[in-house]
Amino acid sequence: MATLIRGGTLVDAEYSFRADVLLDGDTIIAVGNDLDLPSGTQVIDAGGQLVMPGGIDPHTHMQLPFMGTVASDDFFTGTAAGLAGGTTSIIDFVIPNPQQPLMEAFAAWRGWAEKAAADYAFHVAITWWDETVSRDMGVLAREHGVSSFKHFMAYKNAIMCDDEVLVNSFTRCLELGALPTVHAENGELVFRLQKKLLEMGVTGPEGHPQSRPPAVEGEAANRAIRIAEVLGTPLYIVHNSAKQSLEAIARARGEGQRVFGEVLAGHLLIDDSVYRNPDFAFAAGHVMSPPFRPKEHQAALWAGLQAGHLHTTATDHCCFCAPQKAAGKDDFSKIPNGCAGIEDRMSLLWHHGVGSGRLTPSEFVRVTSTNAAQIFNLHPRKGSLRVGADADIVIWDPEATRTISAKTHHQNVDFNVFEGMTVKGLATHTFTRGQLAWVNGDLRAERGRGRYLSRPTHPPYFEANTLRRSAAGN
Ligand code: URP
Ligand code: ZN
Ligand code: ZN
Repeated sequence: MATLIRGGTLVDAEYSFRADVLLDGDTIIAVGNDLDLPSGTQVIDAGGQLVMPGGIDPHTHMQLPFMGTVASDDFFTGTAAGLAGGTTSIIDFVIPNPQQPLMEAFAAWRGWAEKAAADYAFHVAITWWDETVSRDMGVLAREHGVSSFKHFMAYKNAIMCDDEVLVNSFTRCLELGALPTVHAENGELVFRLQKKLLEMGVTGPEGHPQSRPPAVEGEAANRAIRIAEVLGTPLYIVHNSAKQSLEAIARARGEGQRVFGEVLAGHLLIDDSVYRNPDFAFAAGHVMSPPFRPKEHQAALWAGLQAGHLHTTATDHCCFCAPQKAAGKDDFSKIPNGCAGIEDRMSLLWHHGVGSGRLTPSEFVRVTSTNAAQIFNLHPRKGSLRVGADADIVIWDPEATRTISAKTHHQNVDFNVFEGMTVKGLATHTFTRGQLAWVNGDLRAERGRGRYLSRPTHPPYFEANTLRRSAAGN
């Protein structure tokens, strides 16, 4: 059955205008006024509201096995919560154990994700190196639509990459036309600082940010950028939380390097005072990496987003409940790292971004969907309202308010780092490939409705990088 979204104001990455949108099946089939309607078309009234591309969260970890436990939101509950907040696609991470064949890990994640309620793609992490890893990167890129690979520069003795792995993998990414991405923290320094703090008797969550100061992030971001510069690859840096990594990105971009930056809603809004709260459950509930930073970093991150040095907003959605966090009761380095956010990102960015005048509505669309779709080669199928695009659409009431709470959220976790924040601007309706999954507080997410998104290699910026390299004679 066709659906007409009538009377709303369309907002896309370029501009906003009054128009209706006609959907049929999975797809947007017409945009305009006085459209011819197939018989039986259902009409959704969007009067007084905005009609935007559904959000894309390019950084989530559903049911991730991590630090001796498994993240509590699975692919169904997590994507369903996303739909409640207006997010219609995720890019999650396949993270092989060191020595585990990439294809084995990829098959496991593909199986877990079959229950997703919204569409999903995968980055694949490179956690070790040999010829089979190089070969499987090719198989993933050419046959399975994986066009970005992730490198953890932290988590020593687990999934951390050293420089040798970074250089090998970035080189392979270049051959394949795939985008290397990094979690930028110097894992060697984190390991050393954790040991030192524990020896000094600092065992509580306050030790977490102390063991991961901003310089640790800045060093790794700069190192990854310079490796990418020498090899001639583009680079995407996930969850920038500190002025130091932002400055490294801005500097590289100013020199003509193609570096993309992501920022999390949490790092834009929460500061490090949370780790000094004497309530272990509260402080541990905020333990994620990189940690929340002193306030001045938030102002810099907002400015970076406005200036275009940061391109995407994400959540790093990775939930652990209080009993899971309690694994680090006597040793902060054992608290599972991760926080929730997929349900709240869109409202938080609207309220604090558009509501404060930092972002225009079109800039909001860019940083919540279009830029991620373009960088990760999902555009224009995702992140756009043009005819032929997937009908992943959010109807947005810019005046409606809600107060965020773990008591009312749909995420499968007992804690919310945004607890008590009131936000103005929320999704009244969310369509996932043409199907209404969220209607005025009624969550109708369907288990298994989500589809795997195959992403081709060689996005347009990649060609530009290659041209620039050949023009420079290298
Ligand atoms: O603390 C975090 N961010 N947990 C998830 C894994 C990662 O580093 O992205
Ligand atoms: Zn990370
Ligand atoms: Zn992550």
